[in-house]
Amino acid sequence: MAEHVEIMLTEEEVDRKIQELGDRISKDYAGKSVHLVCVLKGGSFFMCELAKRITVPVSLDFMSVSSYGGDTRSSGVVKIVKDLDEPLNGKNVLVIEDIVDSGRTLSYLLEMLKDRKPESLKLCTLLDKPDRRVVDVKVDYTGFEIPDEFVVGYGLDYDQKYRNLPYIGVVKFD
Ligand code: IMP
Ligand code: MG
Repeated sequence: MAEHVEIMLTEEEVDRKIQELGDRISKDYAGKSVHLVCVLKGGSFFMCELAKRITVPVSLDFMSVSSYGGDTRSSGVVKIVKDLDEPLNGKNVLVIEDIVDSGRTLSYLLEMLKDRKPESLKLCTLLDKPDRRVVDVKVDYTGFEIPDEFVVGYGLDYDQKYRNLPYIGVVKFD
């Protein structure tokens, strides 16, 4: 099926929002350092741009998860495909996500990370689709709340395509 992408949030709007988030995070973590945990692959573009705009000391780690049974949305039970390189105990951990949809993946992931005894654990997402929420997840930093549409770009994919778009777009099927 052919599809095309229509712009929802321009590159300038996204850049401006990431600067705002960076300013807020720098203020909130003043006098501390922050350990960014990126959920691959979608969160990676956002995390790199955000990290550049945080003025307190930053360290980074990455993890990759997939769902048991192949459908993250239905089960929410995630399998770690690539675990973090470093322990989290004593660190001010900020999980970086591309989008919170049903909230299933993240609620599971956050519980798992909490068991590793970080000093603090917060969540930052570029996009949030609140209408789709099934499991309650506390989001500490949100870039944009968006309507229930399938979006791509800035790390988000449709069938592994469009992650490299520098804006957020909506996939329209022709
Ligand atoms: P959740 O567990 O339903 O919150 O699933 C979140 C994951 O689903 C995200 O990390 C994305 O990988 C994927 N996802 C949800 N909505 C979209 C979308 O609109 N575009 C691309 N991926 C999405
Ligand atoms: Mg994701």
